[in-house]
Amino acid sequence: MATGIPKKDTSAYNSRVRLAYEGKISENEIIKGDMVQYHRIYSHSSGKKLYFGDNLDVLRLLAFDSAICGKINLIYIDPPFATQNQFVSRKQSKAYEDILTGAAFVEFLRQRLVLLHRLLSNNGSIYLHLDEKMIFEMKLIMDEIFGVSNYRNMIIRKKCNPKNYTRKAYGNITDFILFYTKSDKYVWNKQTIPLSEDSKKEYQYIEEKTGRKFMKVPIHAPGTRNGETGKPWRGKMPPQGKHWQYPPKLLDEMDTRGEIFWSKNGNPRRKVYLDEHQGVGVQDIWLEFRDAHNQNIKITGYPTEKNPDLLRRIIAASSNQGDIVLDCFAGSGTTLAIANEMQRNWIGVDNSIEALKTILHRFERGIQPMGDFVKKTSNKNNGQQTLFDSADDSCLYHYPNPQHKAITDFSIFIPYKTTSGVIATINDWKIRNIDTDFPHEKKVNK
Ligand SMILES: C[S@@+](CC[C@H](N)C(=O)[O-])C[C@H]1O[C@@H](n2cnc3c(N)ncnc32)[C@H](O)[C@@H]1O
Repeated sequence: MATGIPKKDTSAYNSRVRLAYEGKISENEIIKGDMVQYHRIYSHSSGKKLYFGDNLDVLRLLAFDSAICGKINLIYIDPPFATQNQFVSRKQSKAYEDILTGAAFVEFLRQRLVLLHRLLSNNGSIYLHLDEKMIFEMKLIMDEIFGVSNYRNMIIRKKCNPKNYTRKAYGNITDFILFYTKSDKYVWNKQTIPLSEDSKKEYQYIEEKTGRKFMKVPIHAPGTRNGETGKPWRGKMPPQGKHWQYPPKLLDEMDTRGEIFWSKNGNPRRKVYLDEHQGVGVQDIWLEFRDAHNQNIKITGYPTEKNPDLLRRIIAASSNQGDIVLDCFAGSGTTLAIANEMQRNWIGVDNSIEALKTILHRFERGIQPMGDFVKKTSNKNNGQQTLFDSADDSCLYHYPNPQHKAITDFSIFIPYKTTSGVIATINDWKIRNIDTDFPHEKKVNK
C-alpha cells in the first residue's frame, strides 16, 4: 500500500467551492423568515419534544429559543432522497411525497441545514443520510455551511441485499451518510468491532516464553524527522525517508519488556499481541445495518424507516447520556426511540400525520417482527382507549410487545394553523383520555 506524506497547499485548501443555482436565498432571509407559533397539546416536564409540522418553521422557532439554540449535541437527518416517489405505509396510507429534485431539492434541504448549523452545539455533530441522487450536490452545500475542515466522513452503508438487476449496470445496494461537526472539538466515543476470524489468523507467531500470539509490524513511519525519532537507535537509522514511531528511549523500554522482535538480519519489528487487541476501530463502510430484509426484523411499517442499530452506532459515537439528539425528518421515530433508549433527550419533527401516528404507536407499543403484521381484530386494552389510539387506526398489527417499555415522558406540539389552514385541536388528533392514561401529566391547551 502506498503511503503519502502529508503536505497541504494551504491557499487552495482555503478557497471555497460554492454551488450556484437559481433560487438560492441568503442565510439572513432563511433565519428571518415567517414565524409559525406552536402550542403544546400533550405535556411533560422532560426536554423531549415531538413537533408535527414543517421542519423549516420548527427549526426557525428553535433557533430563537435560547434554551435550545446552540445546545443540540447531535443531529441525524434522513430527508427525502429526490426519488420522485410517493410513499405509503404497509396499510397503503399515504405517508409522504418525495418529489423535489435538482435545485429545488438542494435549496429545500440547504434552508434546513443553515438553521441546523445554528442549533448545533460547539462540540456537536451532524449526520446527513442521502443516496447517490443528491449526495454530491449536498456535500458541497455541507462544506459551505459547516466548513470543509469540519467534514469527517462520507460513510457508505449497505442498505439491502444484492438485487437481481435487469438494467445494464452494477447492483445499487448502498447509500451514504455525510458526517460533519460544528468544530474540531467534538464528542467522539470511538466505536470498535471485534476482530474477524480472518484477521485473527494474522497473529501467526507465538512467543516462546509466554505462548502469547502476536503479529509483527514496522516501528517506523513515512516522513523524515529532525528530532529524537529521526536519530539512530541501537546504531541503526530508520529506513530512508522514514522515522521511528517512538523515541529511542521508549524503544529501549519496549525492548526490555520483550515487545520488539529482532529478525535474523537484525531488523526490529514491534510485536502486537492478540490478547491485547481492543477491537478494530469502525471504518467508513457499514455493511451490517441493512433496512428490514426478512420476516423476523422488527419494524413499524412506515416506509423508508431506518435500521435502529444504525442509529445506535451514531448516537453512541457522537453523543453522551443526557445530550440532546435532534431528527427533523423523524419518519417512524427511529432516532427518537433509540435516543430515548440510550438515555438522551430528543427533539423530533415530521409533517406527515402518518409519521406522527406511527411514532406515537411505536412509543406505546414498540416495533414488531415484519411477519407479525396482521389486521387489527380487537381492542387490545380491555376496551379502554389510550392516548395513542388515534395512532392505532393506521397500523396493521396489534400484538402487544411485553418487553417494550412505553415512552410517555415527552411533549407534543402542533402549529396553531395546520398546513391546510384549519386550526388544529386535540380532537383533530383524536388524542383522548390524557388524564386517565397519564394522570401524573398535565394537559396543556396553549
Ligand atoms: C425518509 S423519511 C425518514 C425515515 C426515518 N429516518 C425513519 O427511520 O423512520 C423522511 C421523512 O421526512 C418527512 N418530511 C419531509 N419533508 C418534511 C418537512 N418539510 N418537514 C417535516 N418533515 C418532513 C416525511 O414526512 C418523512 O416522514
